[in-house]
Amino acid sequence: MDKNITIDKKRAIMKLTIDEIKSMKSKEKITMLTAYDFSTAGILDGNVDVILVGDSLGMVVLGHENVLDVTINDMVRHTAAVSRAVLKSLVVGDMPANSYNNKKNAILNAKKLIKAGADCVKIENEHKIAQILIENKIPVMGHIGLTPQTIQDYKTQGSDEESANKIVQEAKALEKAGCFGIVLECIPCQLAKKITQELSIPTIGIGSGLHCDGQVLVSNDMLGLFEKFKPAFAKRYINLAEQMRIAFRQYNKEVKEKQFPKEKPVLNNLQRFMFKSKIHRATVTDANMDYEGSITIDAELMKKACIIEGEKVHVLNIQNGERIETYTINGKANSGEICVNGAAAHKFNKGDKIIIVSYTLLNEAEIKKFQPKVVLVDGDNKICV
Ligand code: KIV
Repeated sequence: MDKNITIDKKRAIMKLTIDEIKSMKSKEKITMLTAYDFSTAGILDGNVDVILVGDSLGMVVLGHENVLDVTINDMVRHTAAVSRAVLKSLVVGDMPANSYNNKKNAILNAKKLIKAGADCVKIENEHKIAQILIENKIPVMGHIGLTPQTIQDYKTQGSDEESANKIVQEAKALEKAGCFGIVLECIPCQLAKKITQELSIPTIGIGSGLHCDGQVLVSNDMLGLFEKFKPAFAKRYINLAEQMRIAFRQYNKEVKEKQFPKEKPVLNNLQRFMFKSKIHRATVTDANMDYEGSITIDAELMKKACIIEGEKVHVLNIQNGERIETYTINGKANSGEICVNGAAAHKFNKGDKIIIVSYTLLNEAEIKKFQPKVVLVDGDNKICV
């Protein structure tokens, strides 16, 4: 089968849809984070509902002063990289400044982002453009409040009545245009609450308080990766920049001091099959050729030897030196039953003394601590104390 068809099927089965995002309003908080590259998107996929390829790319990845220099080609390239990694989360492609300055450009550029793998696009304000895109079957997420493509003064918007009313009006116009959700950036908590209550579509807040239907952050802020400045609302979940600095310095030191690479390949974290447990000198109580392969063992003996039903074991016949590999079946607890089933019954007779051995896979550190278990039994397969 064509590989692309398989992948598309997988996507169709697992991907969160726009309708599912809409139906989360007032029921379950929606989570959104940004990603700009394949590796990060792969880690994010399925761990948040929505992945935004934001034009914040311009600042946190490309090192510009603001988002104004981001081009549609930048966004297409990074949307494609993110989309290659994402199977589960919804991907939003951000339309950069000037890419939707008229209807024709808006449709042309939005289609480029969809072709690159975005499930929908995001635009700032511009409800009339939103309507045109939606009429052209391109799903749109709105963005109001502090919209960095038109406002470079990074402060809370809608603090006075007039500007608050304007924001409410734009929210309603975007909803009427058919947007499936709206980002509310840096507006007062109570204004975000009012908009969230008055709209039937989800609101996703950033620096706009807890009442929104969802939350979004720039991943580089919440990971502590972007050190140029830290928005007050952006909680840092980890200081990744510091962790990276430690790793980079360690690498630098090891290379300078000729500790890395080693002359011989590093073999110190190999996993090895080690002896885990054995039931020693047990007696075969039956050898049944008509039964499907395996060994039935008194469940109590299995428990004591830390062997579970279905586990692979080696059975060694002390009588004749035969040795087989099979899997276990639980026998009646405390019955003393040990029955060799199937073809192996050719090599084992009732009354033969056997050793049943199990193994486990351990790494170097685990090997140092691990204690194998030996279960000694008497002639009736009762545990010797
Ligand atoms: O570009 C971006 O990252 C954004 C978020 C801040 C919502 O638009």
